[in-house]
Amino acid sequence: MNILVTGGAGYIGSHTCVQLLDAGHKVVIFDNFCNSHSNVISRIEKIAGKKVKLYVGDIRDKSVLERIFCENQIDAVIHFAGLKSVSESVKSPLIYYDNNVMGAVALCLAMQKFNVRRLIFSSSATVYGTAAEAPYDESMPTGSVCNPYGRTKYFIEEILKDIFAADPAWYITILRYFNPIGAHENALLGEDPCGIPNNIMPYISQVAAKKLPLLTVFGNDYNTHDGTCVRDYIHVVDLANGHLKALEKMVHNNGGFNIYNLGTGKGYSVLELIRAFEKVSGQKINYKIGPRRAGDLPIVFADTKKAEKDLGFKAKFGIEKMCTDTWNWQKNN
Ligand code: NAD
Ligand code: WQD
Repeated sequence: MNILVTGGAGYIGSHTCVQLLDAGHKVVIFDNFCNSHSNVISRIEKIAGKKVKLYVGDIRDKSVLERIFCENQIDAVIHFAGLKSVSESVKSPLIYYDNNVMGAVALCLAMQKFNVRRLIFSSSATVYGTAAEAPYDESMPTGSVCNPYGRTKYFIEEILKDIFAADPAWYITILRYFNPIGAHENALLGEDPCGIPNNIMPYISQVAAKKLPLLTVFGNDYNTHDGTCVRDYIHVVDLANGHLKALEKMVHNNGGFNIYNLGTGKGYSVLELIRAFEKVSGQKINYKIGPRRAGDLPIVFADTKKAEKDLGFKAKFGIEKMCTDTWNWQKNN
């Protein structure tokens, strides 16, 4: 198939492009490089040994979007493009609603116009918010989200439900990611956040590399086994594979509207993650315990049964492999 990958130069998109190419698909990447580097394209091509077609532009730009659909016979779209910083979204909510929500609407309008109706959308476990408790399953209520970034994901999910309700000829799969970490094992692709990282894994790896002096652990007084927050970390290569499984299911079954969690179903605390990283890297992670971060939930992990049963998706890689690949990426980049 010919797959349009928006945000294909980004962290999760780039790993997914490699797997799409490996599986024999053709890939068209559409990215404005607002949070990625253009050299990622040649790295994807180097790993896969195949070429991709690149369009540089913004998903809200109707003229480029329509040009892509005119010039390529697109069979399905995987929509990664979006902004993802929780803290930035609190400071600049309109930028997030504009980029993420308006971007998704622009994309769906162009898809509808060109009669391309297969869409996989990158959502987040954050949509479960505070209304339910771990393990989260896909039938649980969503929407009680406490930051604008998370609300963009929730709103887009609702928009996609409305699109499908109005026209069941669409095939829409929403994937709710838990906490993606890790990197490609050859260290050519990985997460490279601009400025000081918000997320724990790039923070830990930059402390290990002595780019940052000290990690602050946000709270050790939660009701968890060691007092620090528990998350479901999933290797980005496993996560990318989940997209292939979702694509296969979409094409071979009769499609429709589906939502799947992509996680491992296992939770690790912040201190356990630090220890796992120290073990594989041989580096001491300097950290101090600080106050809780507003909006953090104590325990987040997935119920993975639905993705396992319907998609045959099961994450393969454990926490040590996630840390090893992150460390190799950090050292080589
Ligand atoms: P990323 O920032 O590495 O990749 C996003 C890509 O989209 C970047 O290459 C960026 O340049 C591009 N982009 C952003 N806005 C664009 C626009 N308007 N037009 C064209 N390109 C644009 O992020 P990621 O970690 O790879 O995340 C991919 C998707 O998965 C995002 O939608 C994100 O919200 C979602 N997600 C990420 C996580 C996570 O922890 N990384 C968790 C859950 C969901
Ligand atoms: C993980 C744990 C922190 C940094 C976020 C988004 C979510 C999704 C994934 C996109 C928490 C602790 C962190 C630090 C710390 N993204 N921590 N010190 O918050 O689970 O999820 O990224 O969709 O929507 O909300 O991930 O990596 O920020 O934090 O102690 O410097 O690490 O408190 O317990 P989070 P994270």
